[in-house]
Amino acid sequence: MSNYQSLDANDPLKTWRSQFHIPKTKDGQDCIYLCGNSLGLQPKATASALQQELTDWQNLGVEGHFHAKNPWMPYHEFLTPMLAKLVGAKPSEVVAMNTLTLNLHLMMVSFYRPTAKRHKIIIEAGAFPSDRYAVLSQIRFHGFDPSASLIEIRPRSGETTLHIEDIESAIDESVALILFGGVNYYTGQLFDMQRITEAGHAKGCIVGFDLAHAAGNIPLHLHEWDVDFAAWCSYKYLNSGPGSIAGCFVHERHGNSPDLPRFAGWWGHDKTTRFKMGPDFSVTPGAEGWQLSNPPILSLAAVKASLEIFDKIGMDALREKSLKLTGYLESQLDAIGSNAFSVMTPRDTKQRGCQLSIVVKKDGRRVFDALTANGIICDWREPDCIRIAPVPLYNSFEDAHRFVEIFRSAL
Ligand SMILES: Cc1ncc(COP(=O)(O)O)c(C=O)c1O
Repeated sequence: MSNYQSLDANDPLKTWRSQFHIPKTKDGQDCIYLCGNSLGLQPKATASALQQELTDWQNLGVEGHFHAKNPWMPYHEFLTPMLAKLVGAKPSEVVAMNTLTLNLHLMMVSFYRPTAKRHKIIIEAGAFPSDRYAVLSQIRFHGFDPSASLIEIRPRSGETTLHIEDIESAIDESVALILFGGVNYYTGQLFDMQRITEAGHAKGCIVGFDLAHAAGNIPLHLHEWDVDFAAWCSYKYLNSGPGSIAGCFVHERHGNSPDLPRFAGWWGHDKTTRFKMGPDFSVTPGAEGWQLSNPPILSLAAVKASLEIFDKIGMDALREKSLKLTGYLESQLDAIGSNAFSVMTPRDTKQRGCQLSIVVKKDGRRVFDALTANGIICDWREPDCIRIAPVPLYNSFEDAHRFVEIFRSAL
């Protein structure tokens, strides 16, 4: 038995792969799907979860709000304990709502309150463009100038990832908000969220995280780390389908502050009086108080079906396999022994999740096209980067092995 076969044989999570739909090549073989950092695969349980809601809608109409198998009125609450466990929060600190960029804006409405002395926002250079657009628009919305109010932490000369010390030393009393990715989408670098939060709080800043590439990828302890707020999408590692409903965390010390400025909607109104339809907004405590609209149940059903899987396995077991799987992939890439490519993701496992970002020095696009032609689904980022994410839930060591074989010949 070769190495990857014995690794697969001894993988305690190996049976979960069969719980997912794996896309097929034209000749009916499983693709080597390494793109769960972009769009996670569909759990087999999702279709029946959605069908349940369609059936209840068909049979009950509006009565489904109260009499569906999973009544729609409190539907988002069914997800709360699982979401809380996933990100290391108290149930009152999390809510499934809206989409990621929208939640980042809602959080900034409440937590970015610039003054003449404290108006800056720190982000990582090379943050996902939507985050940068959102931050720039918030700065301008408050009448400040991004050239003075936006600080982007850059890698040192000749390097591609960041040093925690460089993040810490940029923080001072002029900074209102630090909004960092938990894992950078491009480099795959995982940041020390606890240390960034401590450094920010020491200077009186609010600290929030975009966890799009961290949720479902690495264990999180948002409450314990004392993070002020966080938001994440559910369609990457959380396998809840394209554009599906996102998640949001607000630390309990803020969740019960009715005086925080916020953009309000009826779903954030006190649940006990919401249907009295009064003219004045009275906020419901906790993260739920940031909800705006009654949520899309079909999307929540997909998130619920997926979270049930994470809840059964637990992030620690997933991380354990993830470290082995990505470590195996890295060692196989090293064994190619070529300087035609390099991996920009940190080698230090404390600084990465499952993704490796490979820089192909010449003809990268041609290499990527050859991978695609050979049944690999991964992604290409201009100008020279192939991102691959072996996901511990459904990828095997064989996937990693086959990827490296095809990559070697494509090079
Ligand atoms: C890090 C990060 N932030 C924000 C977004 C934007 O997400 P959405 O379109 O759900 O708002 C993405 C999407 O891929 C992302 O990767």
